[in-house]
Amino acid sequence: MTDLNFIFSRRSIRRFTAEKVTHSQIKLLLEAAMAAPTAMNTQPWHFVVIEDPGKLAELRKILPFGKMDAPLAISVCGNLGSVKKLVTERFWVQDCSAATENLLLAANALGLGTLWCGVHPINRLESSVRTILNLPEMVIPLNIVYVGHPAEEKPARTKYDQTKISHNLFDIPWQSPEDQD
Ligand SMILES: Cc1cc2nc3c(=O)[nH]c(=O)nc-3n(C[C@H](O)[C@H](O)[C@H](O)COP(=O)(O)O)c2cc1C
Repeated sequence: MTDLNFIFSRRSIRRFTAEKVTHSQIKLLLEAAMAAPTAMNTQPWHFVVIEDPGKLAELRKILPFGKMDAPLAISVCGNLGSVKKLVTERFWVQDCSAATENLLLAANALGLGTLWCGVHPINRLESSVRTILNLPEMVIPLNIVYVGHPAEEKPARTKYDQTKISHNLFDIPWQSPEDQD
């Protein structure tokens, strides 16, 4: 049996201890993020690693649902100034979302907790984050990911819902193998 627990046990963690995330752990997270698939291999991502307590406090202030006290945040951004502008403009959200999910799963595998806080496409949040992180015009913040050692435990789970699956045609429901036996 393949062990997929590193996927099912990833949960949104909203309480963290004060323990720091080491720089080698941060590097691993970024290596995992940059292992994600990306349209035409354009890699339109840019990551801002935020450890400065003042900057973390500024982010907490402006994120309506992101007031968590974590020792680290990573902002996954789309860099529209990177190569192949047409592809990047269309696909950067997907590419950066894939990178973000890789980062969350890698953190979970390292025993770290994470929370993805949405920024793009809320204009007001984008512009606040842009100011706080000094992002150039062509760099759009997709999110702020809080990272730290979890101070809460949540059970592993899936949100599997068979009503959300069709088989070959939209109006034919998928049946799981157990139902067919
Ligand atoms: C695009 C996106 C934006 C999110 N923004 C926030 C946020 O601002 N604050 C927050 O507490 N959680 C946020 N979340 C986390 C979701 O609330 C969480 O994933 C969902 O409730 C399911 O819980 P789970 O991650 O433990 O499976 C966001 C998740 C995504 C994918």
